[in-house]
Amino acid sequence: MISQKSVQEVIEKARIEDVVEDYVTLKRRGVNMLGLCPFHNEKTPSFTVSPAKNIYKCFGCGKAGNPVQFVMEHESFSFPEALRFLAKKYNIELEETVSSQESIEERQHFDSLYLINQFAKESFQENLFETPEGKSIGLSYFKERGFREETIKKFGLGYTLNKRDAFTLKAIQKGYNIQLLKELGLTSKYDKDFFRSRVMFSIHNLTGKVLGFGGRILDNTIKAPKYVNSPETEIYNKSKILYGAYFAKGAIRKEEECIMVEGYTDVLALHQAGIENVVSSSGTSLTVDQIRLVKRFTPNMKILYDGDQAGVKAALRGLDLVLEQDMNVKVVLLPDGEDPDSYLNKVGASKFKTYLTENADDFIFFKTKLLMEEAKGDPIKKTKMIKDIVSSIARIPDPIKRSLYIKQCAATVDVSEQILVTESNKVVGQNIRKREQRNQRNNTYPRPTSGTSTPSTGSGEFPTQEPNIPTDSEEYPTEAASPAQKQTTDPTAFKEKDIIRILISSGGMPFDQEEDMTVCAYVIQNIEEIIDDFDNKLYENIAKECRSLLQEGKQFDQQYFINHSDPAIGQLAIELIHSPFEYSPNWQEKWEITLQTQKAPEDNFTKDSIQSLYRFKLDKLIKMCTKNQTRIQEASKTGDADQVMLYLKVQQKLLQMRNELAKKLNTVIFK
Ligand code: GTP
Ligand code: MN
Repeated sequence: MISQKSVQEVIEKARIEDVVEDYVTLKRRGVNMLGLCPFHNEKTPSFTVSPAKNIYKCFGCGKAGNPVQFVMEHESFSFPEALRFLAKKYNIELEETVSSQESIEERQHFDSLYLINQFAKESFQENLFETPEGKSIGLSYFKERGFREETIKKFGLGYTLNKRDAFTLKAIQKGYNIQLLKELGLTSKYDKDFFRSRVMFSIHNLTGKVLGFGGRILDNTIKAPKYVNSPETEIYNKSKILYGAYFAKGAIRKEEECIMVEGYTDVLALHQAGIENVVSSSGTSLTVDQIRLVKRFTPNMKILYDGDQAGVKAALRGLDLVLEQDMNVKVVLLPDGEDPDSYLNKVGASKFKTYLTENADDFIFFKTKLLMEEAKGDPIKKTKMIKDIVSSIARIPDPIKRSLYIKQCAATVDVSEQILVTESNKVVGQNIRKREQRNQRNNTYPRPTSGTSTPSTGSGEFPTQEPNIPTDSEEYPTEAASPAQKQTTDPTAFKEKDIIRILISSGGMPFDQEEDMTVCAYVIQNIEEIIDDFDNKLYENIAKECRSLLQEGKQFDQQYFINHSDPAIGQLAIELIHSPFEYSPNWQEKWEITLQTQKAPEDNFTKDSIQSLYRFKLDKLIKMCTKNQTRIQEASKTGDADQVMLYLKVQQKLLQMRNELAKKLNTVIFK
């Protein structure tokens, strides 16, 4: 168990923008930061980070939370795992009571897998640097290839001994479970070491944990594959990772470009030469997931191909999917017979960099030129090739970009532009139809329907129509309404929710400075007698919790609810305090509103809370009136005149209160 004090410390120290930026490139947008959501595929950024509130929220898929929840979601961590992860990042020492049986089990399966891989990495490193065999065979090999010790250490390179089960025995001795060793592919089913006499490449995830290994054979007289890799496991999904991404992500962001190479050694060589924005798909053709991984950091990709044309042509086919993801792709073909590593070693870093700049060709033109050469003079081949290229261009989602490519392609292949346009439109149409069919099958995110825009506007003005208080919702990048937003179309729910919004967003604020009264105190006082009448139990619980806090004289702020131990309350808090006004840094200009005379809604909490209370009470009063009306009718039926009189009096009082409130709210009641 991690102590409450430690939990609190992590929550207080972890900065949402720091945590998110390890995975997503964020751009400032007013007081917030905006990026592409890592939890769903999107083209327009709707993933918002609020440093001030220390929360994230995606307006596309609705995911939201604090730093702890972000890593839980992103890394599939449990709560304690997420805390440990953040504690490490922020150098916080956790107070943790160890190993009750329960908490051992809590340290999930995943944890053990990572732990074993880490152990393996360290022992392979030890072999490399400290055993005679490792030094004379492995280390000397790396050094011969020009890798410096710092590079070797940074990337966690290692060596496996030429023994049948040296590693497995060592691991078992250390108490690691043989079943898990097998699951990770480190031990064969006959209890032998899987990797033997190989130099080892550790494969890390984006946070630097070891997912698996690649091992290169050194003796090329042995008939075995040059490279063997760990099998797919629960933690290692080959199609989703890129070798080197952990070491490259910062540079990719900075350079606004990702260089893609084919091999492990290419990554090492380039990185060592100061070209750090480099990753490798490790021999396999690129997958959509790998491209999306890159796209989280940059839309620009430069692919370096070894200089043999046969391989390149095969690789090009798979590349259309990069275009579909709306990436800008450039291709560099290296001189014949060279791969990035060998060419870099040959010409040196500075010439290599120049070569990359001078020979980077736009993917489409690269493909066009390559195929043109092949089709030379053969009209049938040429037709096929044009169709091929047009089908690539048709994948580009941006119509302007598409038409520019078509223009230039028409010139290159010497065909009329109109023909290419017609052809391209045909393919685009087909693709759209295909996508629609796919979407129907997969039932993707629901589109927002009108009237479900978030009602939690902190508007200080009177609502003109309820419950859908107009928001500047066209300002959000809403791909879909979040589930939480969708539930609130019922007017009563809205008013209840609005009370809770006030309590959470500004409960701790001073309502009346002279009387030393907080907004929370004011609201709770006013709803005391109806606090049991909430329709929504979650809201009622929050109101009651506020009452307890008040009674105990405890201070609280938004963060208290955002980081609440009940995740439902945390989620609600985030939804409620994410005022839409913050998403439009230009709203002042757009609507020509100046804030000098009028406070921003979130600062206007006094007025805001009074009105919210009025609306809440008005709603309850109207309900009471209706209920009382039925009582009157029932009493009349039974002929109990006294009862009828009593209820009539009540009704009169209720109506009077209702009308007073309505007047204050400027609302006309027609019933
Ligand atoms: P060096 O020969 O050490 O320079 O490695 P390289 O990275 O240049 O190798 P190559 O260009 O032949 O292959 C590129 C990548 O494909 C490698 O880094 C491996 O990830 C992968 N690969 C190559 N050969 C094999 C193999 O035999 N089996 C598997 N599974 N992968 C391989
Ligand atoms: Mn090579």
